[in-house]
Amino acid sequence: MKQEIREDKYCKEKGFKEGDLVIFYDPLKNKSYLQRLHRDGKFMTHRGIIEHRQALDKEEGEVVLTHTEREFFVFRPTLNEFIKKMARKSAIMHPKDLGIVLLWADIYPGLKIVEAGSGSGALLLALLRLVGEKGEVISYDVREDLQEIAKENIKNFLGEVPNLKFKIKDIYTGIEEVDVDRIILDLPCPWEALNTLKTSLRSGGIVLAYLPTITQSEKFVKSLQQAGDFSLIETMESIVRPWNIEGLSVRPCHRIIGHTGFITVARKMKRG
Ligand SMILES: C[S@@+](CC[C@H](N)C(=O)[O-])C[C@H]1O[C@@H](n2cnc3c(N)ncnc32)[C@H](O)[C@@H]1O
Repeated sequence: MKQEIREDKYCKEKGFKEGDLVIFYDPLKNKSYLQRLHRDGKFMTHRGIIEHRQALDKEEGEVVLTHTEREFFVFRPTLNEFIKKMARKSAIMHPKDLGIVLLWADIYPGLKIVEAGSGSGALLLALLRLVGEKGEVISYDVREDLQEIAKENIKNFLGEVPNLKFKIKDIYTGIEEVDVDRIILDLPCPWEALNTLKTSLRSGGIVLAYLPTITQSEKFVKSLQQAGDFSLIETMESIVRPWNIEGLSVRPCHRIIGHTGFITVARKMKRG
């Protein structure tokens, strides 16, 4: 079956249809609201009610009015917007870090990727968009309830994705996949997965771990160094400082995301 995920479909379609995911953007408050369009759906805002049917057949960026004639704009949500608003039961990989992870782990179409834990599926969403129909993603978690949230979020944003497999298993105890191109670990003790990395990651493959504290990152880096199978080890964090540009107020925003996680990346070597 050919994979036709959200992006393929939306590139062909112009007007919004019933069932589409949209954001209603309020330019006055600079706020957006995620909604799934239903013919009889209504969305209550502090500036009036928007009837969903107004958005049907409209193109992205067109105006919809509340019953009090206030203007909102309708768009399809970007992945960044969706992740910030999606349901979650775990900490997620923050969108500012996802951009770095995709480049530092060198994610491209056709790769075989193992990731753990599935959590709420933020990282999975970003990986799935890039690996394409020839790629494969296998996602591990020890908690079924969290994987259910991840599945729901992926279905909501991408639709059915045939090249994604979920497994309930402790990744520290090993996995059956071999010759894996990338292993991405977003869980507390990636050093416990060292044997998994040694047996399942192909030579030249990349491991990336995302950790909230630098002491965890240090422990992981030391375990990679001691294992002797890994090189090109780098640790970094991303700091994004949004700016307010409005009239004379040209300055950094008062509130920024201070800290999320540290990223450690390494390449597997061929030994012997
Ligand atoms: C921070 S959350 C992952 C968030 C996810 N990457 C996202 O972006 O939404 C950590 C997840 O790792 C799972 N986990 C913890 N230890 C694990 C293990 N040994 N094997 C597999 N999953 C594990 C937890 O159940 C939790 O769902």
